[in-house]
This record gives sequence, C-alpha cells and structure tokens, in this order.
Amino acid sequence: MRRSMVAANWKMHCDRATASALASEVSALARGAAAEVVVCPPLVYLADVRGALSGVALGAQNVHDQPKGAFTGEVSAAMLADVGCSWVIVGHSERRAQWGEDDALINRKLRAALEAGLQVMLCVGERLEERDAGRAREVACAQLAGGLQLVSADQAARVVIAYEPVWAIGTGRTATPEQAQEMHAALRAALADRYDAGVAEGTRILYGGSVKPGNAAELFGQPDVDGGLVGGASLQAESFGQIVAAAAH
Ligand code: PGA
Repeated sequence: MRRSMVAANWKMHCDRATASALASEVSALARGAAAEVVVCPPLVYLADVRGALSGVALGAQNVHDQPKGAFTGEVSAAMLADVGCSWVIVGHSERRAQWGEDDALINRKLRAALEAGLQVMLCVGERLEERDAGRAREVACAQLAGGLQLVSADQAARVVIAYEPVWAIGTGRTATPEQAQEMHAALRAALADRYDAGVAEGTRILYGGSVKPGNAAELFGQPDVDGGLVGGASLQAESFGQIVAAAAH
C-alpha cells in the first residue's frame, strides 16, 4: 500500500519571516493527515524552516551532483542532509528549461542525493508541443529512464516520481484526471519493465501542475496518482491544507 504524499515547492518565494510562519502553519495542518507532507523552501531558509516544522519533512529544490569541491554557489547532497533535509527535488522542468539540465546531469544529481541518504522526487513531464505531437508518454518515460540510470531496485525505493506536464505548471491549466491517470499508469508500467512489479507497485507517483483545492481530490482519486507536488497553491496554508486533506482519500 502506497502512502499518499503532498509536497510543497515554494520555488523562489517567501522571506525569512513568512517562510517560518508558513512552516508552522503547515505543521499544524499536517497533524493527523493521512498523507506524508514535505516542504521544499528556498535553500537559504532551510534551517529556519526546519526549526519551525514539526511532523513535516524538509526538502530542497536543487542539489549539485558532486560531493564537494570548487563549485561556487552550489550545495552538495551531504550539506542538505546536514541541515535536516530528507528530500530533494531533481529534474524540475524549470531547471531543465532555464538551466539546461539534461537527463545525464539529473541522473548524477539523483544518484548523489541517494548516496548522501536523501530521498528524491524525480520530476518528468512533456512540453505542450510534445503532447500535441502525441509524444507525451514517450518523452516522460524517456526522462524516467534517463533519471534512473544505474539506480538499483533497492535505491529506487527512495525515489518518488512527480509527473508534471510542463504546460500545466504555473499556468492554471491542469491535466484532466484522465490525462494524469493515463500518464501515471504509463510511468508505472515503465517502472515494472525497468525493475519489477514490486517496485512499480511500491513507487509513489505524484501529479504536479496547477494542483488546487478545487481539483486535488479528483486528481488524487485516480488509482495511479499518489498525491501531488504543489507550487503556487502551497504558498498559502489554507489552500495547501485543503490539498493535503484531499490526499487522505
Ligand atoms: P504549480 O507548480 O503548482 O504552481 O503549477 C508545480 C511545480 O512546479 O512543481
């Protein structure tokens, strides 16, 4: 049985005070929730947010692929673990598009994170032109395979997949529950091919892209949708709380 999960990706929002306040509110609303709740604040507020969280896991939005060295401005997986992170997001479409991160780099980041003991949310998802060309499954499954190169079945137990169609992120345009289910089922089948049925059944696949209180329950009600990765709607405790509650079903 997969436990549902709802992760907040605050992206480059909040200041120190609002980040801590929101973390406290999220802790209160997550108390007793069926879903596992994870908060991913901006890097500089990790320690503050950690101090304000209780019963909620801390995650980072990015990580470098090397353990240490002359990499100005970068942060290693061990450093994230050291300040209390148990999760990190890799492969987010904003990083793929704006920083040119490719599957090879994403795979190195993912393995570096696993080696440091972190759990990973691996984001995959097609762009609108790829969906329109009928290539949505092919693109998302190729990103899945690329991200999971050299990752064993044991290690895969610490990976969650986030299906985030690029055309739905921050646009207000959400995938329909049917579109999400179809893609999640395809990703789960790809996990079964790559590993085995046990890994496929045990791996949580989150949906991301304009998840809101009004659409969360229907999305999360799909058999292969195990929760959500939430951007905009995670910046207010009330809307995020409603989304967390929707994952209880
Ligand atoms: P959104 O972002 O909920 O604002 O669409 C989701 C994400 O980028 O993870």
